Amino acid sequence: MEKTLILFTHPALEKSKVHRALKEGVENLEGVTFHDLYEEYPDFYIDVQREQALLLEHSKIIWQHPLYWYSVPALMKEWIDVVLQHGWAYGSDGTVLEGKTVKSVISTGGSEKAYCPQGHNYYPVEEFLRPLERTAVLCRMEYLEPMIFYGAFQLDGDALSSAVDRYRKYLQTS
Ligand SMILES: Cc1cc2nc3c(=O)[nH]c(=O)nc-3n(C[C@H](O)[C@H](O)[C@H](O)COP(=O)(O)O)c2cc1C
Repeated sequence: MEKTLILFTHPALEKSKVHRALKEGVENLEGVTFHDLYEEYPDFYIDVQREQALLLEHSKIIWQHPLYWYSVPALMKEWIDVVLQHGWAYGSDGTVLEGKTVKSVISTGGSEKAYCPQGHNYYPVEEFLRPLERTAVLCRMEYLEPMIFYGAFQLDGDALSSAVDRYRKYLQTS
């Protein structure tokens, strides 16, 4: 079975509703390694060798986080900066990640309607994810269609349960 590595970044999990539910729903699934970066590295000193070894052990990578300022939480950016090294992850000798897949699993405070030219964020979320897409592609990985949970503040009850089910099913069947 191909193994999935979920690289999870949320700086305030104690206040989280959506990602706490998603985490609880998927962290014990077979074949899934749930790796909480803020829990592992609260001081931002990332163990690069350990992170690179984890990447090599998994063929499917998930970047799971809330959308922060149209981007990733700070530790996710730090992880990209220090783990995806030239000559290892990219560049003419950086081929070890070739063939892996990457998928973003994100939540937004804004509604889906807010992410279009008539809405106040103007662009679809996919446009804000372009740096992640190109990062994956530069590292010879395939960037899959993101899973986006919109309107996080309104996501409650049945809607939140279906979000968790959708994520679980994806991980169990993909
Ligand atoms: C610092 C910060 C920046 C945020 N930036 C955005 C943003 O750019 N777009 C957006 O739709 N929501 C934004 N939000 C809302 C979060 O995406 C939302 O709180 C989160 O998805 C909820 O997930 P949770 O319940 O797991 O915390 C931001 C929230 C914070 C705290």
